[in-house]
Amino acid sequence: MRPAGAVATRADLPEVAALRTRVFVEEQGVPAEVERDALDATAVHALARDERGRVVATGRLVERGGVAVVGRMAVDAAARGRGYGAAVLAVLHRQALARGLAEVELHAQVSARGFYERAGYTAVGDEYEEAGIAHVTMRRTLP
Ligand SMILES: CC(C)(COP(=O)(O)OP(=O)(O)OC[C@H]1O[C@@H](n2cnc3c(N)ncnc32)[C@H](O)[C@@H]1OP(=O)(O)O)[C@@H](O)C(=O)NCCC(=O)NCCS
Repeated sequence: MRPAGAVATRADLPEVAALRTRVFVEEQGVPAEVERDALDATAVHALARDERGRVVATGRLVERGGVAVVGRMAVDAAARGRGYGAAVLAVLHRQALARGLAEVELHAQVSARGFYERAGYTAVGDEYEEAGIAHVTMRRTLP
C-alpha cells in the first residue's frame, strides 16, 4: 500500500520536531538553533505515519513572494525508500495549490537531488553550502 500523508495538527508538532531533530541535528549534525527557525510558526507542516502510528516523515511549506517554498523534508532513517517522503511532498504540493501557488522552490541537499527529480523538480544554478551541507536550488511548476 502506498503511504498517505496529512497536514500536521498542532498536537502533531512535538512528534514532527522530534523527527527533525533525529534527522537533521543528530544524524546530519545541523545545529539545533539553525534547524528550528521563525518560519516554523507560520509554515504548513505535513507528516506521514507508519503502520504503527509513528511519525516517520515530515516537511513544511512557506510562501515567499508568491512562490511556495518546500523545506525541512525528513524521513526517519529506518523508513526511507518506502514512499513516505513522496507522500509528504504530495501533501505540500496540494497545500501550495490550495493557496494559489503553482511555483515551488526548494534547496535540495545534493544527496537528495534524485528524490526531487523523481518528483518533477529541475535543478537551477550551481551548488552551494548551507548548514555545512552541499545544496542545489530546484524548482517545479504544479500540478
Ligand atoms: C531524501 C528523503 C526525504 C527521501 O524520502 P524517502 O521516503 O526515502 O523517499 P521515497 O521512498 O518517497 O522515494 C520516492 C522516489 O524517490 C527515489 N529516491 C528517494 N531518495 C532518493 C535519493 N536520495 N536519490 C535518488 N532517488 C531517491 C525513490 O527511489 C523513489 O523512486 P520511485 O518513485 O521510482 O520508487 C529521505 O531519504 C531523507 O529524509 N533523507 C535524509 C534527510 C534529507 O536528505 N532531507 C532532504 C533535505 S533537502
